[in-house]
Amino acid sequence: MKNMDWTQLSFKYSKTNTVLTCLYKDGKWGPVQSQTPDSINLTVFSPSLHYGMSCFEGLKAFRGVDGKVRIFRPDENARRMQSSAGFLGIPCPDEELFQRMCIQAVQENIDFLPPYDLRAALYIRPILITTLPSINLVPQQDGIMFMVITLPVGSYAGTVLDPIKTVIARDYDRAAPNGSGSVKVGGNYACAMNATGVAVKQGYKDVLFLNPETKNIDEFSSANFFGIKGNIYVTPCAKTILPSITNKSLRQVAQDLGMVVERRDVAVEELSTFNEVGQCGTAVVITPVSLIDDKVALGADKVAASYSYPTECGARSLELYNTLTGIQYGEIEDKHGWCTIL
Ligand code: PLP
Ligand code: COI
Repeated sequence: MKNMDWTQLSFKYSKTNTVLTCLYKDGKWGPVQSQTPDSINLTVFSPSLHYGMSCFEGLKAFRGVDGKVRIFRPDENARRMQSSAGFLGIPCPDEELFQRMCIQAVQENIDFLPPYDLRAALYIRPILITTLPSINLVPQQDGIMFMVITLPVGSYAGTVLDPIKTVIARDYDRAAPNGSGSVKVGGNYACAMNATGVAVKQGYKDVLFLNPETKNIDEFSSANFFGIKGNIYVTPCAKTILPSITNKSLRQVAQDLGMVVERRDVAVEELSTFNEVGQCGTAVVITPVSLIDDKVALGADKVAASYSYPTECGARSLELYNTLTGIQYGEIEDKHGWCTIL
């Protein structure tokens, strides 16, 4: 391991050893290339720049208590990228190539995998873009580039011990009713970014988007929503929500812990009935939410309604967090076979 300064670890850009690229050309994926500069040569006519022809994934590698390196559920990310690429209408690497490149990227950047006692991770970001020059609105079938980049990460916004304040974005939609909400395309993040920026300026850490049709709870800009009511784990279900792999895992963990899982519509008014509320996702892991403000518009001064939760992580959220991360760090038996051990 390199002599790294791990003290500043949050969720931000840092340079690692290598990035991997692989080009789909003449109907097949070419060799995997490893390079040190984290820049590529791309025509300014690439539709990935103009038309948002890009999708990506996010997963993590962990250094376990036993010293082993574990990647959490890469098969799920591989399949979700296929669904995102299918939405865009472009070729996508199969599960084998996806996982092989993720593993190689971790191996080549193992110096940047934080030690076990920091309970941090090496974030893996697979990206798929179109690279040929074009100005037309037809999905390219050639010159598709698959890349895998990595970076060491700590907490994203808050931590499990540091709940965050959030606000409902009533005057912004993250997704359209029959749009791209359920896939991980770049455009979704473009839609969410300014709303998040406006909220951050007001002291919130994230925005909570409502469903564009029903106005029920959808999800945060960076994570899924869950609420705890007694022994029940409640999480919204809609075709505008990204199917989070963390949330899927937590639903299983909740069941394993004897909780009841409900995946259904959640009306804004129901927010007053939860004992605990949290974000879940790869970057945020579980980040408890201590406040959700509801305003007519993000820029408005007046808060129409406020929903408050414990300012320390609730017992149920903490139990879920400890179990999930326990599996990821090799402390708890991985009985569902979620981790790929390198
Ligand atoms: N929702 C959005 C909008 C996200 O960006 C993410 C992050 O990937 C999630 C949910 C959580 O998904 P996952 O748990 O698969 O990381
Ligand atoms: C992730 O959690 O992996 C994401 O892609 C969310 C992103 C906003 C960092």
